[in-house]
Amino acid sequence: MNKLTSEQSTYWSELANTYVWKKKWDTLVSGDFYKADIKWFEGAELNITENCLDRHLEKRRQKKALIFEPNDPKEPSSFLTYGELHLSVCRFANLLKSRGINKGDVVCFYMGMTPEFMIGVLACARIGAVHTVVFGGFSPLSLRGRLEDSKAKMIVTHDGAYRGDKNTPLKDMVDECLEGTDLIKTVLVVKRTNQEIKMKEGRDYYYEALIKGVDLHCAPVPVKAEDPLFILYTSGSTGKPKGLLHTAAGYMVHVGKSFMDVFQYKENDIFWCTADIGWITGHSYTTYGPLLNGATTVMYEGIPTYPNASRFWEIIEKHKITHLYTAPTAIRALEKFGNEIPDSFQMTTLKVLGSVGEPINEEAWQWYSKHVGKDRCPIVDTWWQTETGGIMISPQAGLTKTKPGYATLPLPGIVPCLLDEKGKEITDMVAGGNLCIKTPWPSLARTIYGDHERFIQTYFSTYPGYYFTGDGARREADGYYRLTGRVDDVINVSGHRIGTAEVEEAINQHPDVVESAVVGLPHPVKGQGLYAFVIARTNTRNNNDLEKEIRETVNKIIGPIAKPDLIQIVEGLPKTRSGKIMRRVLRKIVENDVENIGDTSTLLNPEIIEKMIQEKKTLDS
Ligand code: PRX
Repeated sequence: MNKLTSEQSTYWSELANTYVWKKKWDTLVSGDFYKADIKWFEGAELNITENCLDRHLEKRRQKKALIFEPNDPKEPSSFLTYGELHLSVCRFANLLKSRGINKGDVVCFYMGMTPEFMIGVLACARIGAVHTVVFGGFSPLSLRGRLEDSKAKMIVTHDGAYRGDKNTPLKDMVDECLEGTDLIKTVLVVKRTNQEIKMKEGRDYYYEALIKGVDLHCAPVPVKAEDPLFILYTSGSTGKPKGLLHTAAGYMVHVGKSFMDVFQYKENDIFWCTADIGWITGHSYTTYGPLLNGATTVMYEGIPTYPNASRFWEIIEKHKITHLYTAPTAIRALEKFGNEIPDSFQMTTLKVLGSVGEPINEEAWQWYSKHVGKDRCPIVDTWWQTETGGIMISPQAGLTKTKPGYATLPLPGIVPCLLDEKGKEITDMVAGGNLCIKTPWPSLARTIYGDHERFIQTYFSTYPGYYFTGDGARREADGYYRLTGRVDDVINVSGHRIGTAEVEEAINQHPDVVESAVVGLPHPVKGQGLYAFVIARTNTRNNNDLEKEIRETVNKIIGPIAKPDLIQIVEGLPKTRSGKIMRRVLRKIVENDVENIGDTSTLLNPEIIEKMIQEKKTLDS
């Protein structure tokens, strides 16, 4: 592993000095990329919420910290000042304590996007408890897996969550998840939809009932620099989801600074990151990044197209938003409704546009720039991952010359590089290769919770001494990076990572399925969709019914986000003599690029390919 240069060491320690610590560190960084035992700021003690809240009170007590825009445009929006958010977090923290939550305990959040969600997460951090947020789009079974893995003691949820015209019955889903188990001692229910729900005596409590009269004072509990802050699950190329563990100090140091570097936030700006707190973007740039900098952050409960495709633009004008940070899939979805809609909004307050989660195609970039940014707002195309904690490669708004499709240059302190298939670092500037990071940075995840070996295997064994991102990239003469997509079996659907293995495992649970293979399907809005090839047990069944049931099975096991877009029932799958499915061939079939299928001489059953191509043609027609 490459050690930090003295400039890098100075950079990170000077940066760290800008935060509030209970005790400063003895060692800046230790460990290596072989054992993946990186530690930052050892010896230090701190509390991230003191940095997000308390330190702003003197100057910004009356400043809006959080603006909440409800799903229904007719419902009034609301806000919390830094002073109010501080008190709300303290009160929630005391409630957690009164339910037996202590430092190091894990609390799971399964909620819709309302202020209590953010308050609860910060309340955990306030007392040194560990939050693990599960996106409300995951099924009860997925939730169960994450609860078992993280050993959470408590769940915080809503009765139901509004998203567009849908109402997700979160509490019912929690009940289903916990049925027949005593996994969780306390379920705390925040009222949102006021729908009828069942409450289990001695386990389920209404937040509104418990919070009454709770003390508003709660000193931030000092934690060690390397104590866990949160666990966030994400999909990998194999097996079950991975719980990436982030620690207190390092995460804070890079996330706070990257927010400023990338977005160039100024004191009275209004920052809107559209990501749900269920994802890393919602952790780092809806919640912690803005608050660490005393910024005003906007939280929106709904979806871009509810009640119609003007909603985003209306929100921007209503709240005088200066920064919009969203995903290419949302941009493409809105682009479909035509230029007239955004063109009829001036959006004069907008200064910076951001993109995250997947490569942004040039057309969407240009549309975003012209019709939303009115050709006067720089677009920051930010590349990073759940594992990296914060943004790694991105323009700095107004300072870096942008180029459509390019995440451009690494942020200060970050050292990316490209490696070839043989594991050699590519020294030529103009090149394509596998994107790795050469030196440690503070907000790198420290482990996969409960499985450090898998952590090493996944990120540090392909290229010993480097952190391997799983992404491919190109580098141009100006040093700019362009991300070209995943090089592993992970599919990026609407900016959300879905592991093909996980979906296949779910499909295979259907009793009439023998085997399946899932590959990415180019999709005009989602970037990629899921295309499943399925071998059925008997061919006597009606394929339409079977497909419906397969989708339902995936919905139940993982959740709606992993439902295949297209299913092709096949007789066999192209396999090598060692029994491995040749996915490259499947991808070419799905992309209708059959001329370039390449060498199939190692296949056991090459004749299957032509059959699959013909069957697909019939399906397409
Ligand atoms: O493939 C890259 C893609 O999203 C992956 C990380 O997904 P996740 O951990 O869910 O985090 C998403 C939000 C940070 C990456 O490995 N990705 C993310 N941002 C970009 C991107 N691909 C291209 N350009 C980006 N700006």
